[in-house]
Formats: sequence, C-alpha cells, structure tokens
Amino acid sequence: MTPSDLIFSLVLITRLPGCFCGVTTVEDHSVLEGESVVIPCHYEPQYAGYVKYWCHGKMKDFCTSLARSDAPWTPAGQGKVVLFDDPVQQVFTVTMKNLQEADSGWYWCGVEVGGVWSADVTASLHINVFQGLSVVNRMLRGEEGSSITVQCLYSQGLRLTEKRWCRSGDWSSCVLTDSEGRYEDQAVEIRDNLTNAFTVTLKSLAQKDTGWYWCAAGQKQLPVHIFVATPATTVLVAKMTSTPEDTESKFVPTPPSSPPRLISNGAEHHRTLWEYSLMVCGVLFIVLVLVLLPWKIQVQYIKNKRKRQAEELKAKQSDPQCGDDWKNSSVILFNSTSDKMFGF
Ligand SMILES: *[C@@H]1O[C@H](CO)[C@@H](O)[C@H](O)[C@H]1NC(C)=O
Repeated sequence: MTPSDLIFSLVLITRLPGCFCGVTTVEDHSVLEGESVVIPCHYEPQYAGYVKYWCHGKMKDFCTSLARSDAPWTPAGQGKVVLFDDPVQQVFTVTMKNLQEADSGWYWCGVEVGGVWSADVTASLHINVFQGLSVVNRMLRGEEGSSITVQCLYSQGLRLTEKRWCRSGDWSSCVLTDSEGRYEDQAVEIRDNLTNAFTVTLKSLAQKDTGWYWCAAGQKQLPVHIFVATPATTVLVAKMTSTPEDTESKFVPTPPSSPPRLISNGAEHHRTLWEYSLMVCGVLFIVLVLVLLPWKIQVQYIKNKRKRQAEELKAKQSDPQCGDDWKNSSVILFNSTSDKMFGF
C-alpha cells in the first residue's frame, strides 16, 4: 500500500454514507471509449452564487481542475470538457466528450466555498472508460411482422474488425459484414458506419425469433435479448398495464427503430406478474378441490346413512311387534352418527 492509497482510503472512510454534504451527484459510471458522458451535480440553494468546478484525481485537495463556471474552458480540459451552471435548478452539468481509457478515475463536483479553515463542498464519482463493445438497448421488444433495430457501439480498436450477429448458442448462425461494413439477406441487415457503431435490423419478426443473440466484433461479444410479441398479447398487456388516463399514450404504435426500453420492460414485468397470479389461483383451486371433495363425500355418506337408519326406524315403529326395540335402536342411531361426526 503506497502512502497515497492510505490517504485515499482515509478519504473514502470519511465519505459517510447518507451524509448530505451540500453537493450530490450520480453513481459511478462505465463508459465505452470514444463515448461522451453528461454528469449532473446538484447543490443546495445557498451555493447558487459560488464558483463551481469539475476536477480529476484521487484526492480532492490535489485534483486537476478541468472546468470552472467562471472559466468554462481550461487548458487541462483540452476542449473535451464543458461545465454549465444552472442556479435556478441548482444543478451544474459537466459534459466530457470522446473519453479515452486514460480518462478513467475519480472525478469531483465542487463548489468553491473554502477559505483557509473550511473545505470546499464536494461530491465524487468514479468513471471507468473501457475498450470493446456496448449495446444501446440490451432488451428489445418487437411485434410479430414488424422489424427491429439493434445498435451496437464499438471502441476504436475494433474499427477494422468484421462485425457479426449470431443467435446465442449457435455459432453457425453468425452472419458478418463484408469489407464495406455491410451484410444483407431476407431476415437480417447489418450496417457498419466504420467509425464507432453498427446497426442490426431484423426484418419481419416471427415468434420463433424470440431469444438471445450476440452483437460481436473481433474477440468481443455482448448478449442482446429480443422478445417478439403477437399483436394479441400486446393489446392484452396494454389493457392490463394502462389506467384510463394513459390509455391513449399506450395504444400509440411505437416506431420499431427505437423501442422504448422502460415501457417494454414494464410490460414484460406485468405479464409475468399476471402469469404468476394465474398460477397461484390454479394451485389454490386444486387444493380446495382436494380438501372439499372428500369432505363433501363424507357428509353425503353420513346423510345417506342417517336417512337409511331413520327409514328403518320408521319401519320398525309402524311394526307393533318391534315396539320394544325402539329405545335401543335410537341409541344405536345416535352412537353411529356421533362416531361418524367426530371420528374422522
Ligand atoms: C456512427 O453512428 C454513431 C451512432 O449512431 C454516431 O454517433 C456516429 O456519428 C456515426 N458516425 C458516422 C461517421 O456516421
């Protein structure tokens, strides 16, 4: 452990969870190399008039300032970092463009209130810039007969590699781009813009297309899930998930090129919830039948027996020769029914 690591651990320990220290920001980020990030830093109203800054480094007291609200462009930012302060919303946003692996590390949202004896108000987050692939939307939903487009982004190192699209678990299903970054057949079309992205379009979706796929380039690959809904299930799901107020928005057909991720996830969630409650109802029904049926049979059996005995009794009563037996038989009747009532 180097001294700087030790100090860094101490800094981490003093970052108490749940402490609202005047500035808050988002959680740690993972970003594909070449991509951009926008980070919001929220502050308390009393800091609206102070200078805001964005800086890079493990320790906040020694970090390198990349942008300031009083000097939006600093040499250290290399023109890649822009800071915009909005005192009305009490937030400043930092945009960092074209991130490289070397940009990975700790960053600080800061408000410059510090004098000699007081520290600035800050919040930190870690940004991890990685090489490889990223998928804009990993869970896609399309309707039977329509088409769907998957967007796969890649970092510079994969620019010259061929791009592939495969059905998961079946490497023979892979289709790949030619030297111009294109592929097309009746079912699939791949377009590589030869800079940082390729799109895969699945044409006229069928139910059997539901499943896992790979977006791949060079040695890298990422899973994508595609769910193909029949128009009927879509309507059912829409009916079940919509309240009267949002019925209109749910029934508007969404463009296949940009399926709304949150809505589709929500719909699938409701569908499984629905299936789950159906299953619970089914099990309850079976249990009820299993309990009720023997009980019902038992009750019926007792009723029949009682009826039979009552009839026998009646027959004996009307027969004068059996008059002496009347008391005995009523006792027998009582005993036999009470045995049946409490004996099972
Ligand atoms: C390639 O596609 C990505 C993602 O859509 C886009 O940001 C980029 O500008 C495109 N590049 C070119 C050269 O068209």
